[in-house]
Amino acid sequence: MNIIDYPRWPSLARESILNVPMDLRSIKLNINGRIIDYSEEIDSVVITGMGGSGVVGDIVNDLCWFWDCRVPIIVSKNMRLPRRLSKPLVIAISYSGNTAETIMSANEALTKGYPVVGITTGGKLSTLLGNRGVPVILVPKASAPRYGLPALLYPTLVILERFSVASVTSELESGISGIERALGHVDDATELANQLLNSVPVVWVTESRRGVGIRFKNDLNENAKYYSVVSVVPEGAHNDIAAVITKQGGLRHMVIMGPNDYEGLYEEVLIDVISSFRAKPIIIKLEGKTPLEAEMYGITYLGIVTLALAGLLGVEPVSTEPIDRLKSLLSERRIFQV
Ligand code: PA5
Repeated sequence: MNIIDYPRWPSLARESILNVPMDLRSIKLNINGRIIDYSEEIDSVVITGMGGSGVVGDIVNDLCWFWDCRVPIIVSKNMRLPRRLSKPLVIAISYSGNTAETIMSANEALTKGYPVVGITTGGKLSTLLGNRGVPVILVPKASAPRYGLPALLYPTLVILERFSVASVTSELESGISGIERALGHVDDATELANQLLNSVPVVWVTESRRGVGIRFKNDLNENAKYYSVVSVVPEGAHNDIAAVITKQGGLRHMVIMGPNDYEGLYEEVLIDVISSFRAKPIIIKLEGKTPLEAEMYGITYLGIVTLALAGLLGVEPVSTEPIDRLKSLLSERRIFQV
């Protein structure tokens, strides 16, 4: 099976962090007469981006449940920033650097005088930010945004460290171990992909592993061109679960479980309930000694499952024509001024 850029993930992670500026906190900008001082205290981190870039926010949000991050992480997948921010750091992530929603959000942040850091391979985002002296972390390229995930995630983690949001340095290598362990499970991944044929996967995940569930759904959509649903518990256990008695055929329930997740006992009850309605779920256990290791293991392993599924379905995994068409129509119709 062709696992595209996955074998490069350890090196993508290691290389990308070398580009995070050492002097990030000493940057001071003057943008239209407004001083943006990167040494000032922040009270939130907004991570803005779409799709394969935006999922970095979900992953960081997961990790902060375990790391007890000093300020809230706000995940923004929109062309506008959330309202009424006080002193945020805005991390704008776009693999291509040409995603209109992300460029608009970064622009808005600068207009409001918020410190911004860009993470991209280049494109308009890099030009827009670079021309104003805003720090841009240029990361190595991959075959498509989602295959470059570690190059977008790892610099984000180092930025969090620099802004004293979380202490991550000692955990970075363990995340790479999680990737490497998953790379050794390609055969299991193919077996799991086989079980998903002719079904709509329903991915059950807890709040603290939401990013793994969302990333899996996105990879099913983009790599295998396959519909799926994510149900985040506890909320999903108060609505989605009512539909396990559905007469619609073809649902395949899967439950993602972390090694020490505090929601584990809740998930055990969930599994018992789903099973009692003759819809026995597939259990996916995230392996790893640290939160980052388990997260990276799950993301890598499940990503490979979706490539295996694409192979079984005879689908070309890299291209995502409808997304490209949407982006070009948005630009043609000048929906956004970027
Ligand atoms: O994985 C993909 O290709 C998409 O989800 C893209 O990440 C998404 O369209 C945003 O593009 P970019 O990551 O270049 O900002």
